[in-house]
Amino acid sequence: MALLGPNGAGKTTLIEMLVGLTPPDSGAIEYGGCSFFTHKAEILETIGVQLQESTLYKKYTVRETLQLFASFYRGPTQEAALLTRLNLQEKADTRLEKLSGGQKQRLYLGCALVHNPQLLFLDEPTAALDPQSRRHLWELIQSLKKEGRGVLLATHYLDEAEFLADRILILDQGHVIATGTPRELISQHSRESQLDVQVRHLDREAWTRMQREFARLRLQGDLEAGWVSAAGEPADLEVLLQQLLAHHKGTVQAVTMRQSRLEDVFLQLTGRKIRDE
Ligand SMILES: Nc1ncnc2c1ncn2[C@@H]1O[C@H](COP(=O)(O)OP(=O)(O)OP(=O)(O)O)[C@@H](O)[C@H]1O
Ligand SMILES: [Mg+2]
Repeated sequence: MALLGPNGAGKTTLIEMLVGLTPPDSGAIEYGGCSFFTHKAEILETIGVQLQESTLYKKYTVRETLQLFASFYRGPTQEAALLTRLNLQEKADTRLEKLSGGQKQRLYLGCALVHNPQLLFLDEPTAALDPQSRRHLWELIQSLKKEGRGVLLATHYLDEAEFLADRILILDQGHVIATGTPRELISQHSRESQLDVQVRHLDREAWTRMQREFARLRLQGDLEAGWVSAAGEPADLEVLLQQLLAHHKGTVQAVTMRQSRLEDVFLQLTGRKIRDE
């Protein structure tokens, strides 16, 4: 399940409550019908967490760090298997200060996995990673999922949520405002499509007329830059597109029309962009 929400929505706070780092003011937390407050010690053995901000001891090697985390738990460690799985076998004896961002992020995930937990909480594990390292981490998360582990993943990347998650939960100001599969959310909250057209020069007169005629579409455009974008009923968009093509013969450079995406649903529901700008 992907946990989405604008900055400050309460994703980290929710995860911290679920793993016992922040006491909730009210409400109950249950794991498989067991109260977290009365069965905390047992439950902690079955869950793993990667926090949004972690500071590890930079003079420790990768292996020492995993051993340290494993020492917090009762069960046996499969350190060698874990190093291979994280693709860190060649870095086992490297100190943390010498690791790249992607290697560090994989090690953080490894620290959450040392005790073979059934359920994982990952708070923005791919933030600030290059596209390749992100992909690699996605594959790791997918393989954990295939093994039947539950994963609650807080993320700002909607493509990541769409790619990895079976279900999405959108949080805003501490409240759940929507849950469902990505498809369900899109079909429930947005029947709209989106049209983007790029022309060499947007004709001022035609543009003014279109703004009047298509007031029910959410129209945006830039005369100088020559782009028009509109959202609304596909049938209306089609008429708009025909007019645009007719008025700008030979100067059209790009046309795209697509269904709403998770990002459109997110913006519609939270009324905010996903990142502070
Ligand atoms: N349910 C809640 N009730 C009251 N205050 C809350 C609640 N959830 C979060 N807060 C407060 O809101 C602030 C931001 O919360 P938090 O760090 O959890 O947001 P976030 O969604 O993780 O943001 P980011 O995307 O920036 O990481 C914190 O000061 C936190 O104490
Ligand atoms: Mg957070």
